[in-house]
Amino acid sequence: MLSLMLKTALVLAIVHTVHSASPSWVSLNVSVPPFLQELDYNFNLVDVLVGTPPQLLSLPIDMQGDILTVYSNDCQFCGGTTFYDPSQSSTSTNVNRSLNGTSTINGTWMTDTVSLGGVVETDSISLAMVEMLSTGYDGLRVTNGGFGFLADTPRNTSVNRFIPALYQSGQLFNPVVGMRLDTLNPRLTVGALDPNDFEGEINWVPLEPNTVGDNLYNRFNLDGIVGRNGSFVPYGDNLIGGISSLLLSIAVPDNTTYINNTGFSGPLYNDTLNLELDTGAIGVPCNDSDDTWGPGVHVPPAYLDFNVQINGVKYMVDSQEIVRNLTYNPAPPGFCHIGLITNAVQGKPDVWLGLPFLRSVYFAYRFPTGDCPGYYGFAFPKGANRTQEQIAQKPTSTPALASHCLNFVAPTSTPTVMRPVDDDGPKYTVYGNSDGLQVPLKGVEFLVKGIWNITS
Ligand SMILES: *[C@@H]1O[C@H](CO)[C@@H](O)[C@H](O)[C@H]1NC(C)=O
Ligand SMILES: *[C@@H]1O[C@H](CO)[C@@H](O)[C@H](O)[C@H]1NC(C)=O
Ligand SMILES: *[C@@H]1O[C@H](CO)[C@@H](O)[C@H](O)[C@H]1NC(C)=O
Ligand SMILES: *[C@@H]1O[C@H](CO)[C@@H](O)[C@H](O)[C@H]1NC(C)=O
Ligand SMILES: *[C@@H]1O[C@H](CO)[C@@H](O)[C@H](O)[C@H]1NC(C)=O
Ligand SMILES: *[C@@H]1O[C@H](CO)[C@@H](O)[C@H](O)[C@H]1NC(C)=O
Ligand SMILES: *[C@@H]1O[C@H](CO)[C@@H](O)[C@H](O)[C@H]1NC(C)=O
Ligand SMILES: *[C@@H]1O[C@H](CO)[C@@H](O)[C@H](O)[C@H]1NC(C)=O
Ligand SMILES: *[C@@H]1O[C@H](CO)[C@@H](O)[C@H](O)[C@H]1NC(C)=O
Ligand SMILES: *[C@@H]1O[C@H](CO)[C@@H](O)[C@H](O)[C@H]1NC(C)=O
Ligand SMILES: *[C@@H]1O[C@H](CO)[C@@H](O)[C@H](O)[C@H]1NC(C)=O
Ligand SMILES: *[C@@H]1O[C@H](CO)[C@@H](O)[C@H](O)[C@H]1NC(C)=O
Repeated sequence: MLSLMLKTALVLAIVHTVHSASPSWVSLNVSVPPFLQELDYNFNLVDVLVGTPPQLLSLPIDMQGDILTVYSNDCQFCGGTTFYDPSQSSTSTNVNRSLNGTSTINGTWMTDTVSLGGVVETDSISLAMVEMLSTGYDGLRVTNGGFGFLADTPRNTSVNRFIPALYQSGQLFNPVVGMRLDTLNPRLTVGALDPNDFEGEINWVPLEPNTVGDNLYNRFNLDGIVGRNGSFVPYGDNLIGGISSLLLSIAVPDNTTYINNTGFSGPLYNDTLNLELDTGAIGVPCNDSDDTWGPGVHVPPAYLDFNVQINGVKYMVDSQEIVRNLTYNPAPPGFCHIGLITNAVQGKPDVWLGLPFLRSVYFAYRFPTGDCPGYYGFAFPKGANRTQEQIAQKPTSTPALASHCLNFVAPTSTPTVMRPVDDDGPKYTVYGNSDGLQVPLKGVEFLVKGIWNITS
């Protein structure tokens, strides 16, 4: 009798093991812009597989978002290259609830199966499907939708968030996301942090809880901005920082406190800068072909020293991420705009760390689970232009719950990421585009072929 019970228990245990997912992790390519440009799209795209069979959607990382936003293939003015067609997915469900939209952007909540490279997959994930985006929409027109991975933003409607759901279903080693958006080796890892992606100790800082009424999420304490001479730019004490992967600049309490003091910025050519009164844009001297600085004068590339200090560690922001590229320069002749703006958002955070920062650091997000709060972690991107002295910096303090909440399983091998077979058929060049762009033409085989009578 006893032995029979034991046997039954054993069989059940085995069956259970077979059916539960084995934890894994995934390392994904991120497509990042080669350099930041004011007049262009600057999105960081990651490939997500949605539906059955999988539809490849290339979604821009949105670090203030918590859900996946997709553009319906019926949406007329949704801009992008990949669209979601729920009618082609056997696992799509329309949950019969419209998005809390406006007259210029609206749509429907859907759920579907979502996978990262075929390595990890879970079903019934909430998708905010945009079906109407009017030409009058005055927000940022994001390409293809959005890849949000925050875990605990307050919502009135219940949603099934993708990465937390992967973790809950036992598919991820750890409740963590790692990211580097630099041009050298942009990556997004889910479920583990890849030691090949970063250098130095990960500097973990706890996140403030996200509460109802906030709409600026995952804020943390910031020591301040450190200039060339090693002093803090006087922006006050108890600064709060936030991160945005859709912001082209770094927003500080006042841009002139930094840029008007060469003790902070470093020397500027001719000791001159340019403030455009209509837009507030600031330009620093840079080379031009208009002889602004005198016939044949070659201005050296502008170099700005800008460091963000977090928990005692200084993170250098690469100068070329702040000084805009001369080739696509909307600044007056002789100047290049800088990606440093005065924070226009009321209240906290005081400092918004946008793309110039994210392209200069390694970043990690430990999302909240159980009794562990959320944390952001910072380190140096492996292979970036950083000195041993910078990499060896030590955080001032270690979070109290570190051994419980920040002790991660390290991956031993890297699962292979699949891309669905490109079944879009042949591709065609685009009239008027000289970059060799090729696009698929859906349904081209149904077009009636023209017959040209060249003799008449
Ligand atoms: C990732 O990028 C590398 C280098 O560009 C490329 O060879 C590889 O095919 C990409 N993998 C996927 C899954 O897109
Ligand atoms: C969808 O919801 C509306 C009201 O919220 C309800 O009237 C309608 O019957 C629902 N449709 C389906 C198919 O459940
Ligand atoms: C819908 O959005 C409006 C403003 O954008 C907000 O005031 C309202 O609380 C939202 N409603 C729900 C149910 O989330
Ligand atoms: C959004 O779409 C839903 C469903 O079509 C509609 O009921 C709602 O009024 C729309 N919202 C706005 C602000 O137009
Ligand atoms: C939820 O709804 C309440 C009342 O309608 C509103 O005050 C609050 O702002 C809403 N919260 C969110 C996150 O939309
Ligand atoms: C900063 O420099 C600009 C350009 O020289 C000047 O117009 C502006 O008044 C200065 N602002 C402050 C606060 O010194
Ligand atoms: C650094 O420069 C700022 C602005 O010019 C100045 O106020 C500060 O005293 C300088 N710090 C040092 C250590 O020289
Ligand atoms: C360079 O600096 C001198 C002296 O301050 C000033 O007169 C001149 O206008 C500056 N040149 C430009 C192009 O701003
Ligand atoms: C830079 O600061 C000046 C002075 O505070 C302000 O007039 C200007 O609008 C700011 N520029 C930007 C782009 O925020
Ligand atoms: C700087 O300007 C000179 C003269 O116009 C030009 O020959 C040179 O290539 C420019 N350098 C850069 C880095 O743009
Ligand atoms: C600026 O743009 C040019 C032309 O696209 C490019 O070759 C160059 O690498 C860019 N410079 C930087 C610093 O990104
Ligand atoms: C590397 O960083 C140093 C400052 O630490 C800077 O002087 C140098 O110009 C940087 N090199 C490149 C290629 O960005």
